Amino acid sequence: MVPALLLDAEAVTALVGDAVAAPSMHNAQPWLFRHQRGSNTLLLRMDASRTLPAEDPSGRGLHVGCGAALFNLRVAAAHGGREATTTLLPDPADPELLAVVTLVPQTASQGDLAALHPAVHRRHSSRRPFTGEQIPATVLDGLCGAARAEGVRLVFPDAWHAQTILELAQDARALEAASPETLEEVARWTSRAAPGEGIPADAFGPPAQDGRAVVRDFAASPQPAGSSAVFERAPCLALLGTREDGPLDWLLAGQGLQRVLLQATLDGLAATLNSQALEWPELRWAVRDPLSSMGHVQMLLRFGYGPEGPATPRRPVSEVLTTV
Ligand SMILES: Cc1cc2nc3c(=O)[nH]c(=O)nc-3n(C[C@H](O)[C@H](O)[C@H](O)COP(=O)(O)O)c2cc1C
Repeated sequence: MVPALLLDAEAVTALVGDAVAAPSMHNAQPWLFRHQRGSNTLLLRMDASRTLPAEDPSGRGLHVGCGAALFNLRVAAAHGGREATTTLLPDPADPELLAVVTLVPQTASQGDLAALHPAVHRRHSSRRPFTGEQIPATVLDGLCGAARAEGVRLVFPDAWHAQTILELAQDARALEAASPETLEEVARWTSRAAPGEGIPADAFGPPAQDGRAVVRDFAASPQPAGSSAVFERAPCLALLGTREDGPLDWLLAGQGLQRVLLQATLDGLAATLNSQALEWPELRWAVRDPLSSMGHVQMLLRFGYGPEGPATPRRPVSEVLTTV
């Protein structure tokens, strides 16, 4: 079916409903959308009331989450027969305006983006142990290609580097446990989260029995005794990186991250996101792959075959979309 030339309320609601299925740090959902009635343009703004000052003081994670939502929006547009033209950070005087997206009925096929649409609502973070079964190289190559298509890099560290990353994740947990501000912020978005936001307890993973997993244990919300689990010994870790490290790069990283995650979902993989070690400048530099020119690490991922994560809540579209 050919979409109407102008975006109507129903189309905009559907697009935003897909956008907000994106991952965001602590499920804070730091995004707002604005549509001018009778136009083909949607604005993506950050929701500055949803920042994480203790863990994300620069807003890096916020931009990554908003970039992921923007990628979902592009996928939703392609699925609906529209072509999306995106301008990132169009107004230097207004850094909270993250993107302007113009949507017109498509002239050329957007098949590669539209093919990802079935994964938009199926993708969830999974924090449970995976089977340890090896992922075929062709599948991993496909994930690297997904990142490249968005101008970012995905690197799979070798066994030695992966062990270093596991140690850095452990160091990050120790720093977190000693930081009252961090613990308070985690509690605000887990045990004390308002309905429609934050991470519910059923999405937590069990703590690793040997403490060596890149899965955040959300220590501020204690787990019942004896609930620890054995994680795969040699997890399939990946680093997503950008050449530079400013707001524009963070938005690119978010789009690349989401393209990788949607492709992984279609490939039958479960994925964990982890930014703990990246939240401490003294650890972040050490996470990067010393052998590749990947630049700045924006996300640590873990892939595997295993249980899909549960769906987490989202704010209703009516709360994040303004029509003027
Ligand atoms: C920038 C960013 C950082 C994140 N950091 C972590 C993390 O350190 N540990 C973790 O378990 N999940 C992390 N996540 C995943 C979010 O917690 C998750 O996306 C959110 O709770 C929504 O759940 P969903 O991914 O299942 O939709 C991160 C996500 C983003 C976008």
